[in-house]
Amino acid sequence: MKPSIHSTVLFLFVSHFSVQFGSAGPNPEHRKILLKGYDKIAIPSGEAGPIRVQVNGLSLNSIDINEKHQTISLQAWLSMDWIDPRLSWGTETKLENDGYLHFDHGEVWTPDLAVFNGAESTKILEFFGKSQVLSGFNGSVIWVPPIKATAHCELNLKRWPHDTQTCEVKIGSWTYSEDEVNVTLADGPAVNHESTLNNTEWELLGAEARRESREYDCCPGSNYVTIHYKFTLHRKSCSYTYTAVIPLLLIILINVVVLLLPKNRGEKLTLGIFNFLVATIFLLYLSSKLPALDHTPLIVVMYGLNLIFTAIIIAVSAVVINFTDGTPIRGTPKWTHWTFNRTVASIFCLKSLQKLTNAKRDGRSYSFKTGGTAGNGSVAMEDPMLVEQPKPKETDGGNKAEWLYLAAFVDRLTLHIYLNVCISLFFVFYIMF
Ligand SMILES: *[C@@H]1O[C@H](CO)[C@@H](O)[C@H](O)[C@H]1NC(C)=O
Ligand SMILES: *[C@@H]1O[C@H](CO)[C@@H](O)[C@H](O)[C@H]1NC(C)=O
Ligand SMILES: *[C@@H]1O[C@H](CO)[C@@H](O)[C@H](O)[C@H]1NC(C)=O
Repeated sequence: MKPSIHSTVLFLFVSHFSVQFGSAGPNPEHRKILLKGYDKIAIPSGEAGPIRVQVNGLSLNSIDINEKHQTISLQAWLSMDWIDPRLSWGTETKLENDGYLHFDHGEVWTPDLAVFNGAESTKILEFFGKSQVLSGFNGSVIWVPPIKATAHCELNLKRWPHDTQTCEVKIGSWTYSEDEVNVTLADGPAVNHESTLNNTEWELLGAEARRESREYDCCPGSNYVTIHYKFTLHRKSCSYTYTAVIPLLLIILINVVVLLLPKNRGEKLTLGIFNFLVATIFLLYLSSKLPALDHTPLIVVMYGLNLIFTAIIIAVSAVVINFTDGTPIRGTPKWTHWTFNRTVASIFCLKSLQKLTNAKRDGRSYSFKTGGTAGNGSVAMEDPMLVEQPKPKETDGGNKAEWLYLAAFVDRLTLHIYLNVCISLFFVFYIMF
C-alpha cells in the first residue's frame, strides 16, 4: 500500500513540474518554483569537482590613476558564466535557446568576488553593482555586473610627466578556494577597451590578463585563484609640458640672463631673487601634485638644483657688484692675476676686455716707473680711451679695469659651470633613464 501512495505522490509531483515547465520559453512562474527552498549561499553542485566560474572578458569603460594616493581605478563590465543545476528550467529537446530567466542579484548564488589588492576596504558585495543574473534552460548562468575597482599601484614617477605606469588589478573569489569555486579565464581577448572613454591624461597602451592560483599564509593547504588584469598606461603630458617643463627652461634662461647682465647693475640681484621665488613656487606646485615617494622625480630634482643654483648666482652677483662698486684703491690680489692670461680670456670670451684691462694695467705700471710725464706713448695710441683720461686718475682706472675684468671673469666662470651642469643633468636624466 505504502509504496503505491509514494509513487502516486511522485507522479503528481513530476506532472506538476512538467505542466509548469512544459510551456515554451521561460515563464515568470518558473522563478517562484525554482527559488522555493533555494539556498543562495550554498555553492551550486552536481558536477564532479569544483564549480567552474569562467571569466569571459572585461569591457573597460574608464580607467584612471591617482598619483596622490597611488591607486588605479577602473569602471568596467565583467562577464562571467557558470552552471547552476538548481536553476535549469527546461529540457534540451524542447526549449533550446528559448531565452533566459531573470533573477535579481542576491536571489541566487553568485561568486563572492573581491579585489585582492583593493585600495578601498574590501566590501565584497558592494563592490559589484546589483545587476540581474540570467539563467538558461539547462542551468547555465550568465552574469555581467558593472564593476568599480580601485587597486593599489606602486607608481614610478621618476620620469614624470613623461612616465609610463604598469598597474595590476587582482580579482578573485574571496572565500572559496580553487577546490570549491574554480575561477578560470576564457580563451580570447581578456580585456576589451574599444569603448573605453578617452582619458584626458592617460593613454592605455595595453591590457592583459592572467590566472594565478596560489596559497596564502592565512590558509595553508588550499589554493586561491585570482585573475590579474595588467594595464599599461602612458601619460599624455602636453599640459605638463607647459606647466612644468617650459617654466624650468625659462628659469634656466633667466639665470643665464642674470649672469650676462652688466657687472655693476643692482638689477642682477633683483632678477635673481625674482627667479628664486619663481623656482620656489614651482616646487610648491610640484609637491602638491606628486606624492611623497622613495624616489624623487627627476623634474623635482631639476627644480631643487635650480633653486640652489639661483641662490649661488645671487651670491655671485652680490660679490660681482661689490667688485665693481666705487673706485678701488688697490688692484686685484696677486693670486687672481692668472685670470688676465690671454688663453683664459679666450676660453671665457673675454678677449676684448682682457686687452683693454691689460692696456690700462700696462699704462699704470708704466706711469709708476717713469714718473708719469713721458709715459703711455704706445699704449695711448692703441687705446684712445686712455688718452682722454687725466693722468692722476689713470692708476685708479687700471685698478678699476682689473676689478671689472675679475667681475666679468667670475660671472663667465659661473655661467660656464652653470650651463655645463644643466646640460649634463638634462643629458643624464633624459638619455640614461
Ligand atoms: C546550456 O545551453 C547553452 C545554450 O543555451 C550551451 O551553450 C551550453 O553549453 C549548455 N550547457 C550544458 C552544460 O549543456
Ligand atoms: C581549475 O581550472 C583549471 C583550468 O581549467 C585547471 O587547470 C585546474 O586543474 C582546475 N582546478 C581544480 C581544482 O579542478
Ligand atoms: C579615443 O580617441 C581615439 C583617437 O585618439 C579615437 O579613435 C577613439 O574613437 C576615441 N574613443 C572614444 C571612446 O571616444
